[in-house]
Amino acid sequence: MKDNPPFAFQGRSLPMPHRDDAIHTSLPTDKELVLKVIPLPSDTNGNGDIFGGWVMSQVDLAGSVLCARIAQGRIATVAVNEFIFKQPVRVGDLLSFYSSVLRVGRTSITVQVEVFAERIRAQGQYVKVTEARLTYVAIDDEGKPRVVPPQAG
Ligand SMILES: CC(C)(COP(=O)(O)OP(=O)(O)OC[C@H]1O[C@@H](n2cnc3c(N)ncnc32)[C@H](O)[C@@H]1OP(=O)(O)O)[C@@H](O)C(=O)NCCC(=O)NCCS
Repeated sequence: MKDNPPFAFQGRSLPMPHRDDAIHTSLPTDKELVLKVIPLPSDTNGNGDIFGGWVMSQVDLAGSVLCARIAQGRIATVAVNEFIFKQPVRVGDLLSFYSSVLRVGRTSITVQVEVFAERIRAQGQYVKVTEARLTYVAIDDEGKPRVVPPQAG
């Protein structure tokens, strides 16, 4: 384990993750940065990596940003159409969530969300950890679907 010494984050000693130089990538230029967040030790699973359910909830929040703007009001998540955990998320990662609109339907909006991790020991380098496609529905005060307002342009 000499290549994997412990390191400290918020007072806790954690195993040093393996290097992932080979999978560094650029941040997207065709998507909007909608959320940045740092997972904490309280968000870990039994492996010491970040719990997938925590990542899913953050992606759900991130996906809602462009949809709420387009729907101009309340929305609800109707479907997680696809969700891929490509690489583990680790304590201390700075996660950046990028989103783009794939489709605007009559009452629904489908978006793509891509999540990139900047590892605590590899500042300025990014690893795509998750990608997902989600659909939201514009809803009225009774929680029923409503027509998405016409888009300018
Ligand atoms: C969202 C909700 C209001 C939709 O009501 P509904 O009566 O099922 O609505 P509809 O069948 O008319 O579908 C509404 C839109 O969603 C789309 N949709 C429904 N299921 C879908 C799916 N699995 N994938 C993609 N789109 C879907 C429909 O195609 C339609 O889009 P369109 O009008 O643009 O063509 C209702 O399902 C609901 O309240 N769900 C719970 C939402 C919630 O609590 N989310 C948080 C989960 S913890």
